[in-house]
Amino acid sequence: MQVQIVTLFPDMVNAVGEYGVVGRAVDKAILSIGTTNPRDFTDDVHRTVDDRPYGGGPGMVMKYEPLAAAIRAARKEVPAGSPVICLTPQGKRFDQVQVEALAGMAGMILLAGRYEGIDERLIEAEVDLELSLGDFVLSGGEIAAMAVIDAVARLLPGTLGDDESARQDSFADGLLDHPHYTRPDETEGRRVPDVLLSGNHEEIARWRLKEALGRSFERRPELLPSASLRRQRAISSWLPDNNTSGTRRPSVSSGRV
Ligand SMILES: C[S@@+](CC[C@H](N)C(=O)[O-])C[C@H]1O[C@@H](n2cnc3c(N)ncnc32)[C@H](O)[C@@H]1O
Repeated sequence: MQVQIVTLFPDMVNAVGEYGVVGRAVDKAILSIGTTNPRDFTDDVHRTVDDRPYGGGPGMVMKYEPLAAAIRAARKEVPAGSPVICLTPQGKRFDQVQVEALAGMAGMILLAGRYEGIDERLIEAEVDLELSLGDFVLSGGEIAAMAVIDAVARLLPGTLGDDESARQDSFADGLLDHPHYTRPDETEGRRVPDVLLSGNHEEIARWRLKEALGRSFERRPELLPSASLRRQRAISSWLPDNNTSGTRRPSVSSGRV
């Protein structure tokens, strides 16, 4: 996948490709990350990319022309048909469903705003999708662009040592992940649940599903209706009307919210 980020701060976003999982995807040539700086598409001595807002008010607005030229240059770096995605608090809330959709693309252009935002005409003319990281305001779109790249890179085949690990993560099939433990089996009086030491893989899988269900129910109940069919079947087996096996409802080992 080729990702091109349109940003005033290339050094900031370049860091995402230098560490950890994303760094591994870059090293393996699964992912390539490039930057295009709108300042390189200005024609005045100050390399101006912003101006005062029409109608007055505080702050500055990113100008149409340098951004349009930068996006057109960025299009040459990505496969044809790659979407132009603007990071903005006014966009669709970014979630794992979109991560999966983007991971199926050959490329994308991520547009990072600054100041009070971007001239609306540029968004109308060049942007295919607006994505928001959440209901809060960052001072720039770079961190949001890096979050998109990180989440997508995890799903690109070959990036993770074991592709199964992404399939078990929270949201992969609509639920939160189960809790994780590692050695030692007891520390400061806290023991690992016995079932995880039992070697009984069926029981372990069942316990993990129960924990995932319990956590999702407690912390994010709105996730349950959209959980995958496999999860739905497990959920219904715990409901009173369908429970013919005498199985108990899921419980959680942690009360944290
Ligand atoms: C200070 S913000 C501008 C906020 C804008 N005036 C508004 O209220 O919608 C500057 C830039 O940060 C980025 N940004 C801020 N919050 C974001 C969020 N929650 N998700 C994605 N990008 C965000 C956008 O690229 C935005 O253009």
